Amino acid sequence: MLHKILEQKLQQALAAVLPEADTSGVLVRPCPDPKFGDYQTNALMSLAKARKMNPRQLAADVAARLDIAAWCEPVQVAGAGFLNFRLKPAALATALRQAAGGGDLFFQKSANPRAVVIDFSSPNVAKPMHVGHIRSTILGDALARLLRLLGHRVITDNHIGDWGTQFGKLIVGWKSGLDAEKLRADPIAEMERLYKWVNSECETDPRVLERARQELVKLQSGDAENLRLWREMIALSESQFERVYSRLGVKFDYRLGESYYNPRLKSVVEDLAARGIAEPSEGAMAVFFRDVPELKDHPALVRKSDGGFNYATTDLATLLFRWEGGSWGAAPGEIIYVTGAPQQLHFQQLFAIFRRWHPEARVKLAHVWFGSILGEDGKPFKTRAGDTVRLEDLLDEAEERALKVVTEKNPELPEGQRRDIARAVGLGSIKYGDLSQNRQSDYVFSWDRMLSLQGNTAPYLLYAYARVRSIFRKGGEDFQAGGGAEFVIAAPEEAALARHLLNFGLALDGAAEDYRPNFLCAYLYELAGHFARFYENCPVLKAEGAERATRLALCDLTARVLQQGLEVLGIDTVEQM
Ligand code: ARG
Repeated sequence: MLHKILEQKLQQALAAVLPEADTSGVLVRPCPDPKFGDYQTNALMSLAKARKMNPRQLAADVAARLDIAAWCEPVQVAGAGFLNFRLKPAALATALRQAAGGGDLFFQKSANPRAVVIDFSSPNVAKPMHVGHIRSTILGDALARLLRLLGHRVITDNHIGDWGTQFGKLIVGWKSGLDAEKLRADPIAEMERLYKWVNSECETDPRVLERARQELVKLQSGDAENLRLWREMIALSESQFERVYSRLGVKFDYRLGESYYNPRLKSVVEDLAARGIAEPSEGAMAVFFRDVPELKDHPALVRKSDGGFNYATTDLATLLFRWEGGSWGAAPGEIIYVTGAPQQLHFQQLFAIFRRWHPEARVKLAHVWFGSILGEDGKPFKTRAGDTVRLEDLLDEAEERALKVVTEKNPELPEGQRRDIARAVGLGSIKYGDLSQNRQSDYVFSWDRMLSLQGNTAPYLLYAYARVRSIFRKGGEDFQAGGGAEFVIAAPEEAALARHLLNFGLALDGAAEDYRPNFLCAYLYELAGHFARFYENCPVLKAEGAERATRLALCDLTARVLQQGLEVLGIDTVEQM
């Protein structure tokens, strides 16, 4: 991690010049234009400004104390006070040789590993998982993989919606109109039908609404029959969730749904009331945020006037449980919630209440929210018939469509193999199509864009990976990965590829810091571009001696970084495409 060494040296030099300055924000980043160097820092300018110093002078003073001749050419002060660093070829070669020899693949594990709880996917029982759940599932899984790779202890928890007023209606429907045949064929569809049916009855017939309320009360007070039905609905839903998760390669350490926290809700509200955080309001219990400008008009209810509890109450109980170490026994340094944008207010309230409740808690709380998936018409993504798109249907279609692409490219491959490739390409395309977007923007779901072999797409990257691997199949048998190649970087395309490889760790760190896998996608896309230019200009198998060894090793490192990067995104690579 050369940039980390440079950063450290830079901070030391700065401390010698400005002993009182906080050096922690003084970072080294890749130069946007390689003309000026490989890395640069722009942080000295703001330090100079704050002290009414001449920024170029400060940069020059720091440069004079920089002790980095082992890695860099003499450092240049540029522009208004930038420092530009250019790596010596020997330093670049050493970094490549270390990675090729089985050392770190251009990234380092975090120096401060922490336990991180990630709450994601969290679908609701008795409803189909729809396209909206895909963003939470894919994004949460990618963050879990990323943080794990960086050395954190990640605990994934699927906070399924397995409790609430909908069960009163579902039980009424189940008892009075269940179609056993339909339930066997498609349990989720049948439960959805029952719910919709009773729900619309409730709107016109107060007696049905009253029955639903009574069934709910019975369930809540432990009625054996209603508990049995409720458990059956959960089990049926779980098998659907599991099918989706296993296709997507998503695993959870825990699945502690809302119902798990039921027994704790009462005492949460009592404790909040005793501490003066929650107060009676029109028969309910509410928390007011009189001193928080954004929340001052948005009190949060923690108990309804009928005595029922709210989403916020469950989440407070959940947060307390997690902060205390959950059932995994480790107090987390960070808790991450991955949901859609409409829940922003809920999490602002939740975090604000928790901070008041437990001001001593040293835990970072993050709501990682995302925008919606839109159809080509710019409206929420729906089927032609106007229904919500079921996740399972979407995954089927992705594999079908990918099979066409794969068959066009490789008609000669046996069908089984084409299907395996299509699975990786199809599911990879859906994942990558989502993760490569800025998560906070809405995006238009487009099969054509997602499955295109050109542009920032999964097929393009998977194809790039397969192409590198094919070099080894064609003639790189003599290449031993990690065989201690002497790197002789001569051509500009070799240098550009090598320098980009070195920045893998920066891409991973950047993505983790902001919970934005799209940074990693952009990095991988650029990597594939550098590789394409290298491959076009620098023959690999026709080269000889050190040149051939260098190029083969660059190919191997590119493949390894691509594979590791895609794995973080939850995408399987294929050897042939
Ligand atoms: N079940 C909720 C939904 O489908 C998401 C739950 C998110 N997690 C949480 N702790 N509130 O919208």
